[in-house]
Amino acid sequence: MNPVIVALDISLLKALDLVKMLREKVAGFKIGWELIFEGGISIVSEISRYGNVIVDLKVADVPHIANRVINKVIEKGACCAIVHGFLYPSLPRGENIYVLAKMTAPTLYDEVWERIIENVGEIRGFVLPGNQPEFISRARKILGCKYRIISPGIGAQGGQPGNALRAGADFEIVGRYVVENPDRVAEWTGLRPACFNTP
Ligand code: C5P
Repeated sequence: MNPVIVALDISLLKALDLVKMLREKVAGFKIGWELIFEGGISIVSEISRYGNVIVDLKVADVPHIANRVINKVIEKGACCAIVHGFLYPSLPRGENIYVLAKMTAPTLYDEVWERIIENVGEIRGFVLPGNQPEFISRARKILGCKYRIISPGIGAQGGQPGNALRAGADFEIVGRYVVENPDRVAEWTGLRPACFNTP
């Protein structure tokens, strides 16, 4: 198993082929609005048969509504879901929740991400940009091994495979770079999560 989560930003048929091909080789799959619109919410259960599923709806609402949305996808078999960190301090909390604290592209998060990750409370972990490994190292120093770090931005967005893991991430999230050529997952051979073995 390589410490890679494949972002399935592709059509349903292509996604189903890919998860069958990669099920033994990667740590999980990330699915978002596009696939859920196409396949319906049952696609979460379908993909969960092949590996851990992170549902990325980048939820941003008051905690009780956010928690209701997240519970729907957890009931369908997802391990976890991503919410926007700008909700801090009024974030939904829970062991299934990843908080997006900094984007791969420049945003206002750049000014506040450290405040978001400090004293966040009971959540599963953070989404931090894998194309900026210096921030991953900084975050890991602040967090220790209390939280998972998962990191997109590899390949198509400029991050080099493995650099975020070496800086302290647990899993790298990769979309186009692997979708275009699934054999590329071999580039993660021998790399390990910094702290946690499951997404
Ligand atoms: O194709 P690529 O590897 O660039 O896909 C990156 C994935 O990670 C997409 O699904 C995107 O929504 C997601 N993501 C991101 N940057 C963030 C959070 C999530 O690129 N800060």
